[in-house]
Amino acid sequence: MSFDRSIKIAPSILAADFANFGAECAAVEAQGADWIHVDVMDGHFVPNITFGPATCAAIRPHIKGVMDVHLMIAPVDSYIEDFAKAGADVLTAHVEAGPHIHRTLQAIRANGMRPGVALNPGTPAESVAELLDMVDLICVMTVNPGFGGQKFIDMSAKIKALRTMIGDREIHIEIDGGVDPKTAPLVAQAGADVLVAGSAVFRGGSVQDPAPYRDNIRAIREAAKGVYV
Ligand code: DX5
Ligand code: ZN
Repeated sequence: MSFDRSIKIAPSILAADFANFGAECAAVEAQGADWIHVDVMDGHFVPNITFGPATCAAIRPHIKGVMDVHLMIAPVDSYIEDFAKAGADVLTAHVEAGPHIHRTLQAIRANGMRPGVALNPGTPAESVAELLDMVDLICVMTVNPGFGGQKFIDMSAKIKALRTMIGDREIHIEIDGGVDPKTAPLVAQAGADVLVAGSAVFRGGSVQDPAPYRDNIRAIREAAKGVYV
C-alpha cells in the first residue's frame, strides 16, 4: 500500500447485496473501485448491526486491493487481533469509542494493520491532534454513523483544519457518508483523498449488471477532480 493523495473511491458494501458480498466486491473492483470499505456495526456504539470479523475473513479472498475496515463498535481492543487475522489492511476506530484511543491505535499498528481514526460530525478536528504521528488515515464522518443513504453534512471547515494539521505527514483524509457527484467536489477541494460511497456507487447496478457501478464510480471521481464543478 503506497501513499499518494490522488482521489480514491472506496465503495461501502453496506449498500451491496448482503447475500453476495464476494461477488459484489469483485464487481465493484472490476468497475474501477480503488478500495473496498467495510462497515462493522455493533448495535451499541451505533444503533445498527452489520457483521464482524468472520464476514471480513470470508470476503477477503474476493478483494484484490485494499480492504478498509471501519469499526463502529465499542469496545474495540478485544477484537483487533480478529480483524488482523481476517486480513484488514486499514483498521479504523472511532475517537469516541472509548477513553483509550491512543492504546487502540498502538494495538492496531502492532497487529500489522494501518491505523485509522474516525471522527463523528460533532467531534472537533483538535481531538486527533495528539494522534497524528500514529495514524495512516483520518476518517471524517459526514453523516452520523449507523446507516447508509443519509444526507451529507458539510464538514469542509473540519477537513481543511485537518489537512493543515497533517502538513506533510503521509495521512489519508477519508470522507464517509452522503458522498455523491454533488458533494464530492466540496470534500476534495477541502483536502480529502479517499471518498467512501455506498448508495451513490451501488445504485442501479448488480453483480449481473455491473456497468452502472462503473458509471457511478467515474461520476464521483470526475466530479471530485473538478471536471463537472
Ligand atoms: C455510515 C457508514 C458509511 C455508509 C456510507 O455509518 O460508515 O460507510 O455506508 O453510505 P452512503 O454513501 O450511502 O452514505
Ligand atoms: Zn463507513
